[in-house]
Amino acid sequence: MAPLSHFPFVQDASGAGFPAAGEDLWIDVIRKMDEVYADLIASQTALEERNIELERTLAELDSAHKKLRQTQQQLLTSEKMAALGRLVAGVAHELNNPISFVFGNMYALKRYGAAITDYLRAVDGGHSADELAELRQRLKIDRVLADIGPLVDGTLEGAERVRDIVQDLRRFSASQREPLETFNLVRLIHTASDWVLKALRDPPELQLDLPEKLDVTSRKGQLHQILVNLVQNAADALKGRDGGLIAISAATQGDQLVLRVADNGAGVAPRHQDKIFEPFFTTKPIGTGTGLGLYVSYNMAGKLGGSLDYADAETGGAVFTLTLPLVSAEDDGE
Ligand SMILES: Nc1ncnc2c1ncn2[C@@H]1O[C@H](COP(=O)(O)OP(=O)(O)OP(=O)(O)O)[C@@H](O)[C@H]1O
Ligand SMILES: [Mg+2]
Repeated sequence: MAPLSHFPFVQDASGAGFPAAGEDLWIDVIRKMDEVYADLIASQTALEERNIELERTLAELDSAHKKLRQTQQQLLTSEKMAALGRLVAGVAHELNNPISFVFGNMYALKRYGAAITDYLRAVDGGHSADELAELRQRLKIDRVLADIGPLVDGTLEGAERVRDIVQDLRRFSASQREPLETFNLVRLIHTASDWVLKALRDPPELQLDLPEKLDVTSRKGQLHQILVNLVQNAADALKGRDGGLIAISAATQGDQLVLRVADNGAGVAPRHQDKIFEPFFTTKPIGTGTGLGLYVSYNMAGKLGGSLDYADAETGGAVFTLTLPLVSAEDDGE
């Protein structure tokens, strides 16, 4: 449409303008304006429709986002379950030793009890001293008596071991909001690595560089889970390799704890290094890894006021460094 300024205007006395070229031109202008107006209305309607469409898309995106969050939550729970499953396998293995020990001892004690009963019956039965001496030798009564003490001690030790394992398991299954407690981290490192490695058919060598005792105030179950995840990853990285070695060290640095879990596997490929802490990143075959172990551990470390980092180990392989305050703050980890 030609701009209005192209039409020759004259001014009347009131100052209002009108086209001098006649009514036709004026009608033409009005028609053009009508067309423009209709175009505008059509564009507005189109815009409104587009808006409605956008709102619908937004609502769909919102619900997809909610679903994703839900799925993520479910997967996090399933990671916990998977970790628990691995632990249960470890625990079953770990429990097996003391239990078979206790069983073996109890069978021996039962046999010893029968021998002692036989001998006492013979004593009560008025046998001669020679007969009793012969019986005593045959029933190995002296060896039995000497053995009873160590057998009972060994059995008690086995039962205590079972009790400790069950206590550790209860701690692991405790809720995320477990209370802060002061405990010896060295013992926790032993239990966590034992649980992973004892469940393996061909475990790698474990090298520990730990102080006698290292008291920390933290959330024991969470630290246990972080340790199990790191040791499990190291063990996975060494699967099928000869001379596999996992080195765990822990030391204090000022008011911080610095714990390292290193292995001499292949390490993390440079292109994967910025992805390993992301949820669901895994290079393991489907059904083996969920890719949540490091994500969960990273977040737990953060909530405890610390950090978890990866570096290539000097000797090749991976080294994960967990830094934590020796004393976590009460509001951390909630
Ligand atoms: N010690 C390691 N050596 C080499 N690669 C590692 C090591 N630890 C982790 N990774 C890499 O980081 C990835 C992510 O580890 P993460 O623990 O989060 O998941 P995952 O072990 O694959 O599965 P999940 O722990 O859930 O069973 C692994 O798949 C692996 O590629
Ligand atoms: Mg893992």
